[in-house]
Amino acid sequence: MIVGLDIGRQVVKAVVVEKTKTGFKLLNIGERLVPEPNKAFDPDSITAPSWVIAVREVLRDLKLNPKRVKKLVTGLNGSKVSIKQITTMEMASDELISAMTFEARKHIPMDGSEAVIDFQILGPNKKEVDKIDISLVACTQKVINSHLDLLKDAGLKPGIVDTDPVAVSNTYINKHDLPEEGVVVLVDIGSLSTSLIVRGRTDELFIRDIPIGGHHFVKWLSKTLSQDYPVAEETLAKYGVSAHLAEKAETNSSAIAVADRTIFDNLVEDLRRSLRYYAKTTGQSFFQKIFLSGGGALTPGLAEFVQEKLNVETTILDPLAILDGVEKYEIPNRTQYTVAVGLAIRGGIEE
Ligand SMILES: Nc1ncnc2c1ncn2[C@@H]1O[C@H](COP(=O)(O)OP(=O)(O)OP(=O)(O)O)[C@@H](O)[C@H]1O
Ligand SMILES: [Mg+2]
Repeated sequence: MIVGLDIGRQVVKAVVVEKTKTGFKLLNIGERLVPEPNKAFDPDSITAPSWVIAVREVLRDLKLNPKRVKKLVTGLNGSKVSIKQITTMEMASDELISAMTFEARKHIPMDGSEAVIDFQILGPNKKEVDKIDISLVACTQKVINSHLDLLKDAGLKPGIVDTDPVAVSNTYINKHDLPEEGVVVLVDIGSLSTSLIVRGRTDELFIRDIPIGGHHFVKWLSKTLSQDYPVAEETLAKYGVSAHLAEKAETNSSAIAVADRTIFDNLVEDLRRSLRYYAKTTGQSFFQKIFLSGGGALTPGLAEFVQEKLNVETTILDPLAILDGVEKYEIPNRTQYTVAVGLAIRGGIEE
């Protein structure tokens, strides 16, 4: 039994799976909101005990005793880690460790604690002889410690600690083949930020955190329509990307100004900028397909909006399609479990 536990900033999600001969079987699935329900979500007011309570509640819902969870996989949020593909000279492993630690310090905001790194040699560089490609994951000791403390306070024994963007990527890879040509773009829209992941068969891996998520959609709508936060949440779920227009028509109010640039335009602009940067630095500009995931991807009309604006086919990733036994559960928000499923898969790989 493997537990993939995604401790999101707004929602804790968990999937319990079992490895089978052909893949994975879903044993249980559940989620819990971290902030108080029916109130405006204020990310600054959330402290460690709120997550501990949410994690404990999820486990209780799933009838799991934290002490009995033997195989746990959790992830660090994309905003707290740096994941980069780096090309470097071939060198001895101790030299490589210090070179990578030095490199990591350039990419993570240092908080007074040491940089912690994990890297994997991908192979020789395609263009330059004597050079190798490395995928480097870095964060700080403080980030790791607070994550481990949270797990311990919830009564869990920390297991594998992965990262959310890599989990999204693993969910995708488990179901789909990478394209023969070009790259796919995975966009996981959480509550406070969005992970952008570009993956190809041979092309460079690229991961970036964009500071816009579902919470910003709701906040924007709440301000534009002068609705309370919980009401705006419902409006967003009902009308999606055109909520500001639909409500205007319904209330027939001229007081509501039609915003010419919406929060969805802002997200798309950030995606466009990141993809442009990717194309410029790698020479690869064939973006085959975009897959949206995360709670923000449930916004009605968002996939169509992204497709139209970026001119790349866009669909919603279904992480549960790869699990046996999923028919037994009624889950309207399947894509919100993309990270949790990817974490569980990671646990299966290490088995
Ligand atoms: N039906 C829906 N329509 C639109 N948005 C939705 C819907 N359901 C949930 N959301 C949005 O999804 C967000 C939560 O998604 P998710 O669970 O992926 O975030 P998280 O993992 O807690 O956050 P993060 O990854 O940033 O830490 C909320 O901000 C919410 O506004
Ligand atoms: Mg998340």
